[in-house]
Amino acid sequence: MTVKMDLTYNKLVDVEQRRQDNRKSQLYSRCAIALAGVAAVLLAAMAIHNLLSLRLSSPTPDKAFCRILPHAPSCYDPCKIVLVESMPEGLEFNSSTTHPSIFQAWLNLMNDAHSSLDIASFYWTLTNKDTHTYEPTASQGETILKKLAEVSGRLSVRIAVNAPQESQPQHDLRLLNDSGADIRTVNMKELTSGVLHTKFWIVDKKHIYIGSANMDWRSLTQVKELGAVIYNCSCLATDLGKIFEAYWLLAESTTIPSPWPSSFSTLYNKDTPMQLQLNNTPANVYLSSSPPSFCAAGRTPDLQSILSVIEDARSFIYIAVMNYLPTMEFSHPKRYWADIDTQLRKAAYERRIVVRLLISCWASTQPVMIPFLKSLASVYDPKSKLDIQVRLFVVPATPKQKEIPFARVNHNKYMVTDKIAYIGTSNWSGDYFVNTAGSALVVNQTSSKSEELTVQSQLQAVFERDWNSDYSTPLTQHSNLKHYC
Ligand SMILES: *[C@@H]1O[C@H](CO)[C@@H](O)[C@H](O)[C@H]1NC(C)=O
Ligand SMILES: *[C@@H]1O[C@H](CO)[C@@H](O)[C@H](O)[C@H]1NC(C)=O
Ligand SMILES: *[C@@H]1O[C@H](CO)[C@@H](O)[C@H](O)[C@H]1NC(C)=O
Ligand SMILES: *[C@@H]1O[C@H](CO)[C@@H](O)[C@H](O)[C@H]1NC(C)=O
Ligand SMILES: *[C@@H]1O[C@H](CO)[C@@H](O)[C@H](O)[C@H]1NC(C)=O
Repeated sequence: MTVKMDLTYNKLVDVEQRRQDNRKSQLYSRCAIALAGVAAVLLAAMAIHNLLSLRLSSPTPDKAFCRILPHAPSCYDPCKIVLVESMPEGLEFNSSTTHPSIFQAWLNLMNDAHSSLDIASFYWTLTNKDTHTYEPTASQGETILKKLAEVSGRLSVRIAVNAPQESQPQHDLRLLNDSGADIRTVNMKELTSGVLHTKFWIVDKKHIYIGSANMDWRSLTQVKELGAVIYNCSCLATDLGKIFEAYWLLAESTTIPSPWPSSFSTLYNKDTPMQLQLNNTPANVYLSSSPPSFCAAGRTPDLQSILSVIEDARSFIYIAVMNYLPTMEFSHPKRYWADIDTQLRKAAYERRIVVRLLISCWASTQPVMIPFLKSLASVYDPKSKLDIQVRLFVVPATPKQKEIPFARVNHNKYMVTDKIAYIGTSNWSGDYFVNTAGSALVVNQTSSKSEELTVQSQLQAVFERDWNSDYSTPLTQHSNLKHYC
């Protein structure tokens, strides 16, 4: 079965290669025409430049067109993207914006799997053995674990996980190991003094899931999560596979290759994204990765992708993240880290972009986050067209739900602008971009040719639903953390 699948796969790759070669030559000729046009424009511009001493900031034609196009072949897979969410028990919105559950998406992916399943993960606790609470809402997690154990006996299941600490539960990993899964631990502490915080799945080198949910029963029923599944998309799955293979290699290693072997390189990044049809609509897509030391040639580091998405926005930037801190959260001595913060203020000031941040507030929120958020929210003055606003999202809990540790929180990690949907796995503070492993899906797709909404407008609707709900409270200069969380 596996052999047959592989042969079919290779054949597809062959056909794909020929199509890409055809397309390449088309691109080369288009490139030549584009270059001629650009050269003419440039000559005129240079004349003006010399006359008026204007500063030309546009990139050279070589960089803008021809160097990049032939190297970033298009993808002809019929890729289908679906946003997926976990809603904490009891949370209800006055909105028609709903998406399939992450639980259902994971089950479907396992049911569809014929040959392989690769999972990158932070930690595992899919049963509530960890809390001894016998929560009925742990049953979804238990179902996923059972199904995973079952497919581990049939398919190639590989799991890359952050090296667990002594105190962390090992039950799930032991069960999966005994069921036939191949498990490797990545000692991030030793490699970068960070953690492996990535959460994604690759199924049959064809379908992928990426998002905020951990392999934790709470992530299915007690924590608010957002992710995306992309079906029938070997091009993207192959590219995400390179990030997985990097973790797989590092698990056996105490040093980070530098440079990375060429098999880890990618052609797809913020400058030359993959061109593909997503839900029958053209889209430019790439995957970013952090920390920078894990990025082989061509890979856009996650921070660069966030900064470029902010810079590219023309009217609004909506951000929903659990934590937002312009600091290195875990460094000693303390370090200020304002790369993202500065970019947001710059967008609001220089280009009058509307900025909205929806940040989570719960029992474990660090108090220091609030003054920094107030500082951002103070960049608000309608007369000067400055418009940064911050709201705190609180997932309410009944007394019984309050007993569940590390639950009842909005754990989303995404950004949506007038042009881009960015779905990530990292908290937004310096550590996550400097020494912690994470990754993100960046979709550049604004106009839909089909009936269906673009993923950008679907994500915008999710943000607006949450922002306008009763679970969100505007952060003002007088807001007191204790009153909310
Ligand atoms: C998995 O099982 C093998 C024996 O089959 C054992 O040597 C290995 O340590 C186990 N790994 C984990 C992560 O439990
Ligand atoms: C993926 O492709 C298969 C085969 O063409 C098709 O049956 C299936 O419906 C597709 N899946 C999605 C989610 O579009
Ligand atoms: C999105 O695509 C457009 C053109 O297709 C490009 O000009 C823009 O830079 C892209 N934005 C990002 C953030 O990649
Ligand atoms: C995100 O930040 C919180 C608070 O610092 C931390 O507990 C958590 O491990 C981080 N990662 C996750 C699980 O999103
Ligand atoms: C939904 O609308 C009702 C009636 O206006 C309101 O009482 C309730 O709080 C709203 N819920 C949310 C989550 O916004």
